[in-house]
Amino acid sequence: MIDDKVNIKKTEMQFGNADAPGHVTCKSIYVDDIPAMEGLLYLRVFDSPVAHGKIKNIDYAEAEKTDGVVKIFCYKDIPGENQIGGIIADEPLLAGNEVHFCGQPILIIAAENEDAAEEALHKIKVEIEPLPVITDPRVAFAQNKLLSPSRKFKIGDTLSAFTKCKYVFEGKTETNGQEHLYLETQGAYAYPTEHDSVKIFSSTQGPTQVQRTAARVLGVSMNKVEVDVSRLGGGFGGKEDQASAWAAMTALVAYILKRPAKCILHRMEDMRMTGKRNPYSSDHKIGLDENYNILAYEATFYQNGGAAADLSPAILERTLFHCTNSYFIPNVTATAHSCKTNLPPNTAFRGFGGPQGMFVIEAAIDHAAKSLGIDASLIQRKNMMDDGNEMPYGQIIKNSEAKSCWDEAISKYDIETIKKEIKAFNAKNDFIKKGMALMPVCFGISFTNTMMNHARALVHVYSDGSVGVSTGAVEMGQGVNSKMIQVAAKTFGISTDRIKLETTNTTRVANTSPSAASSTADLNGKALLHACNQINERLHSFIKTEIASNTECMVEIKDERVYINDEATVYNWKNLIQQIFMKRINLSAKGHYATPVIHFDKAIEKGHPFAYHVYGTAVIAATVDCIRGIYEIDAVHAIHDAGTSINHLVDLGQCEGGIVQGIGWMTMEEVVYNEEGKLLSNALSTYKIPDIYSVPKDLTVQFLNTDKNNLAILKSKAVGEPPLMYGIGAFFAIRNAVLAFNPGSNIKYNAPITPEKVLMGLYNM
Ligand code: MTE
Ligand code: HPA
Ligand code: MOS
Repeated sequence: MIDDKVNIKKTEMQFGNADAPGHVTCKSIYVDDIPAMEGLLYLRVFDSPVAHGKIKNIDYAEAEKTDGVVKIFCYKDIPGENQIGGIIADEPLLAGNEVHFCGQPILIIAAENEDAAEEALHKIKVEIEPLPVITDPRVAFAQNKLLSPSRKFKIGDTLSAFTKCKYVFEGKTETNGQEHLYLETQGAYAYPTEHDSVKIFSSTQGPTQVQRTAARVLGVSMNKVEVDVSRLGGGFGGKEDQASAWAAMTALVAYILKRPAKCILHRMEDMRMTGKRNPYSSDHKIGLDENYNILAYEATFYQNGGAAADLSPAILERTLFHCTNSYFIPNVTATAHSCKTNLPPNTAFRGFGGPQGMFVIEAAIDHAAKSLGIDASLIQRKNMMDDGNEMPYGQIIKNSEAKSCWDEAISKYDIETIKKEIKAFNAKNDFIKKGMALMPVCFGISFTNTMMNHARALVHVYSDGSVGVSTGAVEMGQGVNSKMIQVAAKTFGISTDRIKLETTNTTRVANTSPSAASSTADLNGKALLHACNQINERLHSFIKTEIASNTECMVEIKDERVYINDEATVYNWKNLIQQIFMKRINLSAKGHYATPVIHFDKAIEKGHPFAYHVYGTAVIAATVDCIRGIYEIDAVHAIHDAGTSINHLVDLGQCEGGIVQGIGWMTMEEVVYNEEGKLLSNALSTYKIPDIYSVPKDLTVQFLNTDKNNLAILKSKAVGEPPLMYGIGAFFAIRNAVLAFNPGSNIKYNAPITPEKVLMGLYNM
């Protein structure tokens, strides 16, 4: 019970991540921790052993006879549509007559216990006639195998601009995939409810997407599917769309067998069956004048989409939006192709195609700089965007912090001294070399699909003064629950102790967009603000008429106390709420928010798609052991534009985590499929992710505290994805160290820059 002595100071303090105490005391509940109902069935998925082929025969009669196995489901057992494609309907839940990637689900085993399911799995026999396997997006493109129509963003006229350039450079780049490696693997738990309905507990970033998909598979209306999410043990984009399959499977079993069902993927199943960050192969052409102004830029992106569209068409679009990163280039032609290969459908991953686009322009600039014998930072700073510049997609830049972040980084971290020290170090050491790079970032905030930028919230103030908040936001470790609590506490003028953040539930808050695009706090926070303000209006009007008897007076609730014309009254939050309740005034409200201003016209590829941009610059320094090819990231220092951060600890955590995840993508994480489309990096023994020892020894993030008018929640800018892209600097820092050892190195713009590639680059092997 909350008494009147709640810690009022908490309304103002930075209270960090509200979820953290639960995590460190093992009290946080994840899907697999939900107390199971009696009769629970355990699901296992039988997946394709080959990447492309015709299913000739499948025999699971023996398997189904296994003691403890209740039923094995194939695509014919689906009462609704065998379809889970989000943007494009091109992905079956269970393979029919053909398989298109290794790991594609074919059958679902429902058993009384895990051992029985496991036993049955090994008894299934499948005969598949192999078909040609494509893993390379350029090969797919050459055969016209595309997942969605190609896109082109254009500004100015590159053709004539290139003729005016003094210098023109062309090249090719590669970026690899990235395994999400959320600590909690994909999973869901469902049980049947009254009226032929189901309730699903899912580890998803998109509760509504799960609801929609399950309803489609079951052949029922959406109101018969309730989806509930307490939190995720990480999503990183991997559960924006790809949580739906497992949830639909549990729903199917619960619906057909009228028993609770749970499906939790084992780590190796998760790695094998789910898609990753889209790898890209790209071509670039960059043209500069004699003063190093970039006059023209052309890029062609070949996205490796995998076997189904999933979110790849939207990811492709964001690659184009970010193809010029923080730079203003007057003539740009950028073309992007989403190529269909026989890999698991690739999907959202922190940055959502943005990092892939940014890597290419950074490589192009670096390529030009190296060829001209100048520092890449010279070209970077010279071409940095400013207010009034038009981006290739038509948006005019406003409140740019690109230059301010860059300049602040240069002076605060004393880049000139770092450069000198590195030079001196390299002159002194023959077999250890250092390198550094600067990485600016400009990231657009909003779903690129305008239609998705809306959210709702439901607020109940209970008669004892406690508050229950529901929004469409999903907590996945990014701290959005903490921010929602802060928004409600601040808007009501009460302690955060009074606020309980409820689970994300499709019956309480409907038609949600996934928690993604770094926009969750902005969209849901603004909807929450709207709901709280409606209740506030009722409270204020009551205070004016019933307490002050003066409709003209000024009312404020601050630190749980009611003030009238700036004077404290005897009313506090708790007794005010009691009074209001007794007067039969509505203490609940539903808020709605749709981002204003934004629009985009795909027919002309122009518009104003982003509510605002987030800016920053990082300096990254690395040391390479030139005998072994191994390296360390010595330092990352970033100036990050957080707006006016409402939660410094959460935002700092997002920056630090994002930077390390970005470094992982660029340096050590190597997704490897063989030519038959089989994942070789299929476990943590063969796929290396950054651990605590990979965190740069010296990692600092300084917020550029800006207070400009923007559409961020309480002016606290979105922070989820942008910091990942600082990690791109690690590639160039390491590459520069390799060049310090071997100036004639043939090392390519091919990420990740693993120790193996470094070693070969050091000795031109
Ligand atoms: N941080 C943690 N700890 N776990 C996550 O899964 N996902 C990232 C980012 N930070 C993620 C994370 C991604 S991909 C996005 S889009 C944002 O958080 C989503 O949350 P936001 O919109 O609240 O920033
Ligand atoms: N970002 C992240 N996820 C998305 C987007 C986006 O722009 N669009 C659709 N899903
Ligand atoms: Mo994040 S890739 O938008 O889930």
